[in-house]
Amino acid sequence: MSQRVARTTLTALALACIATLGHAQQAKLKVGLMLPYSGTYAALGVAIENGFKLRLDEQGGKLGGREIEFVKVDDESDPAKATDNVNKLIKRDNVDVIVGTVHSGVTIAMAKAAKESGTVLIVPNGGADAVTGPMCAQNIFRSSFSNWQPAYAMGEVAGKQGKKKAITITWKYAAGDESVAGFKEGFEKAGGKVDKQLAVPFPNVEFQALLTEIAAAKPDVVYAFFAGGGAVKFVKDYAAAGLNKTIPLVGPGFLTDGTLEAQGESAQGMLTTLHYADGLDTPRDTSFRTAYAKTFKLQPDVYAVQGYDAAQMLAIGLNAVKGDISKKAEFASAIEHAKIDSPRGQFTISKAHNPVQDIYLRKVAGNENKVVSVAVKNLADPARGCKL
Ligand code: BEZ
Repeated sequence: MSQRVARTTLTALALACIATLGHAQQAKLKVGLMLPYSGTYAALGVAIENGFKLRLDEQGGKLGGREIEFVKVDDESDPAKATDNVNKLIKRDNVDVIVGTVHSGVTIAMAKAAKESGTVLIVPNGGADAVTGPMCAQNIFRSSFSNWQPAYAMGEVAGKQGKKKAITITWKYAAGDESVAGFKEGFEKAGGKVDKQLAVPFPNVEFQALLTEIAAAKPDVVYAFFAGGGAVKFVKDYAAAGLNKTIPLVGPGFLTDGTLEAQGESAQGMLTTLHYADGLDTPRDTSFRTAYAKTFKLQPDVYAVQGYDAAQMLAIGLNAVKGDISKKAEFASAIEHAKIDSPRGQFTISKAHNPVQDIYLRKVAGNENKVVSVAVKNLADPARGCKL
């Protein structure tokens, strides 16, 4: 071998070594998981984390070529603690990405901090319309829904069924208020009228006085937004008061998702609308459900799907930038142009970074929210106030 050839070969070898080392030394990607692990939404937080980790496992423990390190925070669904909690993740723990949360009020505080710091935020539930409305940003994404989406669909369904007079009941906070507004918009467009809007403070579950008011008013339909432990209590109380025999109770699917074992007889026959359902019977959904049940010894629900898809969206963005999440524009563009192959069915991400997705009409049968039909195909949130 001539000296020149030997030198060239050595240089090539050295470069290959440096490239390999560089790759191997790419630090772990720090993911801040800010979710409720206590309180009325605790089961939702666990399902989201399970779904996220299932997808990570399917990818061999890496996303975009990087191993993942988790930093976990229990946000307690408490908006008063939200700014401190999220700022600890951003400023003390230096996370690269935040995944969270469930409660709309906490989600709004997280979106504000993410917008100020530029940290990537993927929201795996919190439906606050503002997050993909006036607060929309290049670094903020949602793998779930806006509060408007399933609510508007339910309003349309109830109106088309010929229901004329509705009463709404909810927890008094952003998610409940926006869910009721979405239902009212769909219902009144379809010829109905919301007569009365009732509310209790979050996370109160003292419903008796309001159920008495509903019984006296005798509407054609009651629309309710509750989720987690509160949804279990409300649906049971509604049935115990005998109201389910005379006034149909409907809602966004959170009213019966992940709650049916506890609600039992009281939920049977209820109609709800949501971007996920039991009995979709697609190969994609079946493989997800089988893997989830095998790993966690639990049936998945909508929250598990949203966690799973948060990991899918993060992987799509990271793959496009080879793990370098500082390349924000390329990261965002990859997600904006993707078709996400979700167990719920394929969906895309709007310019405001919210899923454009089918909303299913579901009916409770046994422990399942069985799909009845697609209530609204490819429903996009109006993204009012988003200036991206
Ligand atoms: C919310 O606060 O956005 C929310 C919480 C639980 C289920 C659905 C929405």
